[in-house]
Amino acid sequence: MSRILAVGIATVDIVNTLASYPDEDAEVRVLAQRRARGGNATNTLVILSQLGHSTAWAGLLPQEPDAQIVIDDLNKHQVDLAPVQRPLAGKLPTSYIALGENTGSRTIMHYRDLPEYDFSSFDELALGGYDWIHFEGRHVSALGPMLKKTKQAGIPCSLEVEKPREGIEALFGLPDALLFSRNYVQSRGYALARDFLQRQSFSRPAFVAWGEAGAWCRSSRNEIHHAPAPRVRVVDSLGAGDVFNAGVIDGLLNALPLEKILAHAVSLASAKCAREGLEI
Ligand code: FRU
Repeated sequence: MSRILAVGIATVDIVNTLASYPDEDAEVRVLAQRRARGGNATNTLVILSQLGHSTAWAGLLPQEPDAQIVIDDLNKHQVDLAPVQRPLAGKLPTSYIALGENTGSRTIMHYRDLPEYDFSSFDELALGGYDWIHFEGRHVSALGPMLKKTKQAGIPCSLEVEKPREGIEALFGLPDALLFSRNYVQSRGYALARDFLQRQSFSRPAFVAWGEAGAWCRSSRNEIHHAPAPRVRVVDSLGAGDVFNAGVIDGLLNALPLEKILAHAVSLASAKCAREGLEI
């Protein structure tokens, strides 16, 4: 069992299941609704906890009623909340999600009125107790000093690169593993994960999750591996990328070979798509 800290967000997700994604200006009946805690970093932690690791979350949780849904779910999964900051003002980020029953695809409308977790909060943490730190690639200006401090402390770390954000590329040399989304790779003008990985010069292992096509990774010796995804009936793809990231971190901590890490992460993410929610 390793001790893992993740820096990133928690959200409240209002998930509406619909027969199919509606047209603009349509009025449709919601088949089922659930409210759940979401957010990439905390989703990844909840999976890592279920894989047997000891986990902690560093992020902002405003003092408002919706915060309870986050506290309850993270307590249920034994995620340590000691590093969390509790600002008096602000709203828990809220995602309004349309889940198409016919495809399992999710469309997210995300509302945010909360500052980002900053370096001064991270700087107060005693990092000595952690074996791995995972960062959500959001607050680029704070991530540079956070990654540098993590390196100085000799703790291995990963960076999730899900969305294109100005200046994020300057961070790529710092973490021990880079976790890219299809969305990011396509935003860089690549139609294929393999082409993206081949044309970059990463000194660290880099992973790209690609939905139903599985995932690719490139080793620090420039070998490219691919793991296909098993065919499953997709009922809920919400958070599948966060589950994939948890599988990669778990595999890296267990010092598995890269092909095995990739297959493990794809298998966890596919199994997640075949069921609702994030319980393993
Ligand atoms: C899924 C997710 C949701 C959240 C949204 C935030 O990856 O973390 O739980 O609402 O993305 O961007």
